[in-house]
Amino acid sequence: MEVFEYKNVVIETPNSPQAEAYRKLELNIRMASIDKPYQVIQISSASPEDGKTTTAINLASVYAERGKKVIILDFDLRRPKIHRAFHKINDLGLYDYIVNDKPIEDLIIKDESKIDLLLTGNMIDSPHVILQSKKVAELIKYVRDNYDYVIVDSPPVLTVTDALLISNLVDGVVYVVSSKKTKKTQAKLGLKQFKENNANMIGAVLSDIDMKKNADYYDYYYYRKE
Ligand SMILES: Nc1ncnc2c1ncn2[C@@H]1O[C@H](COP(=O)(O)OP(=O)(O)OP(=O)(O)O)[C@@H](O)[C@H]1O
Ligand SMILES: [Mg+2]
Repeated sequence: MEVFEYKNVVIETPNSPQAEAYRKLELNIRMASIDKPYQVIQISSASPEDGKTTTAINLASVYAERGKKVIILDFDLRRPKIHRAFHKINDLGLYDYIVNDKPIEDLIIKDESKIDLLLTGNMIDSPHVILQSKKVAELIKYVRDNYDYVIVDSPPVLTVTDALLISNLVDGVVYVVSSKKTKKTQAKLGLKQFKENNANMIGAVLSDIDMKKNADYYDYYYYRKE
């Protein structure tokens, strides 16, 4: 069975340079839109395993640390992972809202990290239809009205259309590129697809770099708007 290890460095090692890097990411997102702050932020990438979920949980932890009301929506409907990152059972969530008409408030999990979670629950048929539904639009309105920040964990853009559909629901997309895994051609192609879909690309994050080896490079290159 695949064993996933989700490092929430902002919570586990708050004084580490890695945690500091996520604080810098949050600050850069804030600086990228001073007048109209990004509230609903999608985390996506070109391919699987680039570091989207890890970025989502750490960014949410930075907002929680700043005393902001933050929720993570697990919109990786075909391969949900947020429940694993928070050691939860994925038995209640979006599925119950969409299929069983359960009220959103009853499905939101309040984690001890002060991050709220909306998991997927059971597998949802035809995610590409659900993501364009009125119910999901109402869900996004609900979280906008009740949270300071909404982090949307999303699938990679090159594997399913879901990521493009999600980008129509959010204020902006943070694009994760793994220095070890993402092929340059894939990263470029993914970005092109988002742009062709008029997605609002907030910026790119380079993940999985060896901080010791690249300390200087890290500071400069870590975050730069395309
Ligand atoms: N910044 C990072 N530094 C080192 N390892 C990382 C980093 N981010 C993620 N990883 C590792 O890469 C693997 C994939 O991470 P993660 O699940 O966050 O990626 P993902 O893009 O969400 O994957 P998927 O497409 O399957 O949802 C995990 O084992 C994780 O520990
Ligand atoms: Mg993921």
